[in-house]
Amino acid sequence: MIYVTRRASFSASHRLFNPSWSDAKNQEVFGKCNNPRGHGHNYDVEVTVAGDPPAATGMVIDLKKLADIIETEVIERVDHKHLNDDVDFMRGLIPTAEHIAMQFWKILQPKISEGKLVSIKLYESANNFVEYRGE
Ligand code: NI
Repeated sequence: MIYVTRRASFSASHRLFNPSWSDAKNQEVFGKCNNPRGHGHNYDVEVTVAGDPPAATGMVIDLKKLADIIETEVIERVDHKHLNDDVDFMRGLIPTAEHIAMQFWKILQPKISEGKLVSIKLYESANNFVEYRGE
């Protein structure tokens, strides 16, 4: 089994808050991330596909194809957007890195027909990232 990874980047803004909580409770739980007008991040995403490369191509998945899928299916829909308001697939979800990674999985998984999607890592900053493996 070989693991093949493509990285992509996007910039987006968000506000972490739970509309069913009071302002005080939101402030207590989300702190600075609850800033009413939002704040931005430069996100990196790493999408890993695993498989046994067929002898004829030697490739688990054509990385150019994987790059195009990531670009058109997710990056174009979130880049330079406000995740709370502008992105249909984030509607009703608190736009944490966890939720973004899980939504990316839902969108990308059915589009990947060579190899098998095994991991999505979403970096919100150099030191903070989440990994979703679809379980
Ligand atoms: Ni944030």
